[in-house]
Amino acid sequence: MSDSIAAESPSPTRATNAYLSGALAPTQVELAKSDLPVVGKLPDDLNGMWVRNGPNPMFPPGSHYHWFDGDGMLHGVRIEDGKASYLNRFVRTASWKKQQESGRNHSPSYVNARPLEHLQTLAQAARKGGADFFNKANTSLVWHHGKLFALWEAGSPYEIRPGDLETVGPNNFFAAQQHAVTAHPKIDPVTGELLFFGNSLRGNRIRYGILDRTGRLVHQATIPTGRTVMMHDFAITRRFSIFFDFPMLVRPLMPLVGGAMLRYRNDRGARIGILPRYGSGDEVRWLDVEPGFLFHVLNAWENGDTLTLYGCRFPGAPSVLDRKSRSRDELQLDSTMYRWVVDVNSGRVVEGAVDDRPAEFPRVDDALVGSPCQFGYAASFLSSDAPALVKYDLNANTSQRHEFSASQLVGEGIFVPRPNQVSEDDGYLVSMVHDEADDRSEFVILDCRRFDNDPVIARIQMPQRVPAGFHGVWLDGGGAT
Ligand SMILES: [Fe+2]
Repeated sequence: MSDSIAAESPSPTRATNAYLSGALAPTQVELAKSDLPVVGKLPDDLNGMWVRNGPNPMFPPGSHYHWFDGDGMLHGVRIEDGKASYLNRFVRTASWKKQQESGRNHSPSYVNARPLEHLQTLAQAARKGGADFFNKANTSLVWHHGKLFALWEAGSPYEIRPGDLETVGPNNFFAAQQHAVTAHPKIDPVTGELLFFGNSLRGNRIRYGILDRTGRLVHQATIPTGRTVMMHDFAITRRFSIFFDFPMLVRPLMPLVGGAMLRYRNDRGARIGILPRYGSGDEVRWLDVEPGFLFHVLNAWENGDTLTLYGCRFPGAPSVLDRKSRSRDELQLDSTMYRWVVDVNSGRVVEGAVDDRPAEFPRVDDALVGSPCQFGYAASFLSSDAPALVKYDLNANTSQRHEFSASQLVGEGIFVPRPNQVSEDDGYLVSMVHDEADDRSEFVILDCRRFDNDPVIARIQMPQRVPAGFHGVWLDGGGAT
């Protein structure tokens, strides 16, 4: 990889709120750099590419900017033969191109929508054919049927070329283009199927679909929900797909009269929906659970007629979805690891927290999605607790935390198994860490087998600051396979 710098837009964005300052402050520079300095030694058996997505406004946004509004930017770290390189690229969405032409930020805010802006948003969406006009593709990535996709949750996936992170273009998994695709599809590691859902633009229902391992759409269903809620993630087991109808209500017209698009209503109840994998929408079974909110699932599996689900649950509305929360102190991602155990026959649910310390962005070994697992991983960041990567032992109901310094913001940890993995935790946890004390970023590699005993094997020093972001993927061999 050649070293190159391409500054594609004018002056840096001014920090005006918590989502634009410190570790969350965006960068406008697209950079490619090889032979990065490493503290420690890169493992000989770790070869591949980490790619992570996150919001990063290309042009200075308005004062009501929210974290979720930024243009998608991909950061990649390639590790090969004991050497490391870095590159980052904006996702060239239709919205990004439009802004590039006009030279200004015209992104609407959804969490912090204002009346006039929202009216213009709705009018433009109607003219241009839906919310995809504003698609930021800024939330996550998935690798399936030999392709890499950058995902949002209210629009189409954007295909990305894995080698150089160039944008190929939008590619909606649904045959019809009138439905969004979740940022958290699930790949069944046994069958190779990709399962996904999306909120219908018409509301009060979700669309659900399955791609086979070749990328062919082999199943679709419309699932009536009776209301529209923010449903960010879902779960799969070998036989079932599981949906979380929690009471974060989506009210598309409320911003027109000064109200909030999202409103949490504890009194509206919460349900888990269980659907046979190839079921039709009317086969879903809704089971009442304690109200709360859930961004992310850790994993789920079956044992006979018992379903076990783990996720990071908030007891109420997370402050990040409150349009009035702007300061860093008000931003507390204090969800905790939580378990639901469902008797499929009786519909009885037993639920409760398994840990009392905050963590978000849960992950398991991708090879165990939908299967029983002992270990899970998560990150404590923007929380009331110390920054940390966390390892859960789900059998023992214990957790270990590798803490970072108070000035560091640690992102999602992705588990990368060793090539000849001998135990479930025989692998590495990789993550990007930004230190607000010196405004520098490092890519850290932890040994998961000695999580409580100085687990950091190597730290790759980034050639530029890498803003805190959302979700990523590890591509074995850099996506060549
Ligand atoms: Fe997410």
